[in-house]
Amino acid sequence: MLQRTFYRAGALAAAVVLVIGLAIIAGYADKMHPELDVPYEPTHPAVIKAMLRLANVGKGDVVYDLGCGDGRIVVTALAEFGAARAVGIDLNPQRLKEAEERAKGTGVFDKVRYVQGNIMEVDASPANVVTMYLLDSVNLMVRPKLFQELAPGSRCVAHAFHMHDWKQDKIIQHPKARNNRISFWIIPAHLGGKWKWTTATASGKIENILSLNQTFQVVDGTIATDGRPSGSIQNPYVSGKEFSFSANIHAKGQAVRVNYKGIAEGNTIRGTQEWSNGQKYVWVAKHISQSPQGKWELNVAGPVNLSGKLSLQRKGRKIQATYFVKSEGREAPLKDVYIWGSSVYFRIPMYGRERLAVFKGTLEGNSGNGKMAVITYSEEGPFDFNYAYSWTASKIQ
Ligand SMILES: C[S@@+](CC[C@H](N)C(=O)[O-])C[C@H]1O[C@@H](n2cnc3c(N)ncnc32)[C@H](O)[C@@H]1O
Repeated sequence: MLQRTFYRAGALAAAVVLVIGLAIIAGYADKMHPELDVPYEPTHPAVIKAMLRLANVGKGDVVYDLGCGDGRIVVTALAEFGAARAVGIDLNPQRLKEAEERAKGTGVFDKVRYVQGNIMEVDASPANVVTMYLLDSVNLMVRPKLFQELAPGSRCVAHAFHMHDWKQDKIIQHPKARNNRISFWIIPAHLGGKWKWTTATASGKIENILSLNQTFQVVDGTIATDGRPSGSIQNPYVSGKEFSFSANIHAKGQAVRVNYKGIAEGNTIRGTQEWSNGQKYVWVAKHISQSPQGKWELNVAGPVNLSGKLSLQRKGRKIQATYFVKSEGREAPLKDVYIWGSSVYFRIPMYGRERLAVFKGTLEGNSGNGKMAVITYSEEGPFDFNYAYSWTASKIQ
């Protein structure tokens, strides 16, 4: 009897040890295979080359692959396109082991670095080229990070997936690509707000003010010459730091058409202006708008009452934003927020509804205004939102 009890206790102890052992192994396995946002699927070598060609990767470039898998993109960028440095980020240690092996065989081992981490958490600011083979939803999650961490002019290329209403600068078809598609974007310069310049002509100095609204790489605006409004600008074009447009201006009583073309770096645009009367001048414009950081009270005319308080703060390159919806007494942290000069764009998830309110507009000095669209999130689009509602803002502090 005593012996049987002893055996039973022994079996029980063995079972407990087994269960604890399995739990430890399971925990370890969890750490080995953390939850991924995207499953592993390698990009075909021909697609990699097409992606790197599309992003014009070459000497001096620093390439980051977000979710690098077995490292094939970063190694190709170094070994075949002559990139200076490359960093591959992945959560899966098994993939990173394969990636190290791949780099060893190609003579670029000292130029590549692999980071085991989450693409949302690893700083990508040293990159001037970012490659991605993720998902539409994950691209959208990564989108604000790209705008906050990458300098204007940086290039982004994605196998298969889009960036929602951030339209591609270029898109190419490839038979070996998923969805037959490779997309390309350039981080645009910060152009939103007011720019000022003086042009010295034979008939005297002309003062110009250009007011721009920006959403991603799309700008529109108006120009005033010597205090006289000259109307909307035409054919605005932004490609990274390159910016051009045309305008009909009144210069000392003379109507001329001017083509402006320049490079925007920080608070200055430098370039040329070509007048329809044959004159050519340098074009040096200075940004005179303040950053819209701080707290704003928004009055929103829309289908539901979304009036409230917006708080915008920059911490280094990061933007921290919240929106307090007055009628619902709730504060929403805003994840999809952008600031380009004094132009802003943000999305507010609509409480209890599968919808989002998308805001775009200008916050300048002590006031602001813009448009709002209500959308149902869909990965298929359409991404030309109907900005049917309007909002105004005043600065609180
Ligand atoms: C579709 S594969 C692409 C691999 C490689 N870039 C290519 O194109 O061949 C996506 C990779 O992202 C990794 N991944 C998924 N979610 C991630 C996350 N949140 N952070 C880092 N890596 C992630 C996966 O482990 C996988 O290796």
